[in-house]
Amino acid sequence: MSRRKIVAGNWKLNGSKDFLQHIVETLVSVNDVDVVIAPPFPYLEKASALVADLNGLSVSAQNVSSYSDGAFTGEVSVAMLKDIGADSVIVGHSERRELFGETDAIVAEKISQVLKFGLTPILCVGETLEQREQGSTIEVCSTQIKSVLDVVGAENFDNVVIAYEPVWAIGTGKSASSAEAQEVHASIRKLLSESLEGLGKKVSILYGGSVKAANAKELFEQEDIDGALVGGASLKVEEFNEIIKAAGI
Ligand code: PGA
Repeated sequence: MSRRKIVAGNWKLNGSKDFLQHIVETLVSVNDVDVVIAPPFPYLEKASALVADLNGLSVSAQNVSSYSDGAFTGEVSVAMLKDIGADSVIVGHSERRELFGETDAIVAEKISQVLKFGLTPILCVGETLEQREQGSTIEVCSTQIKSVLDVVGAENFDNVVIAYEPVWAIGTGKSASSAEAQEVHASIRKLLSESLEGLGKKVSILYGGSVKAANAKELFEQEDIDGALVGGASLKVEEFNEIIKAAGI
């Protein structure tokens, strides 16, 4: 795999069957931009069927179990996601880490499961406002990524997509500036290449956190920003389309 331009829409706890139908019918297709929609679990199978014949559009889950099977009530395995046609899985979103207690170890185990079944993990990393103010942004992101590298191995990491999402920018309307984001993306790429020669050139690194039509182009112009993981704006189809178009420029 090599770096791809990706715009992914994370619906979080939003959406409906009608919305899914509407969005699939309305989304634009832009050359060289992979568009990913990540609806809640109940809509994934229908979403996979709807996008099956569409170029450049694929389906992601928002989470997955770190377990493969057994007595784990309420969990969903990677094998099940593969079975219903999902292509990727968002892992370690800050809301999962903060609200549902996902540790670096759990995140690493989930990524390992996702890779084992040949799906693409979208690994989310990012610092809190406090950590940014303390100047530990790069260290926090590096630690989060290294804990996955240690478990899956750098040689298996080229199928991972990274989403840098500063926690303070998620859902707040306050995006990182393109320069702030670029700085972190460049350091992540450096870390990857230090782990394995050439790895930094292969991994797509998306920015996430209050991406909208108005700031997408400037973010995408940065050398190390390969696309976006979009929350709120992915629920407004016109806005999401503008973000997709900005990635294609
Ligand atoms: P936001 O969310 O675009 O609403 O800030 C991004 C995310 O949580 O992935």
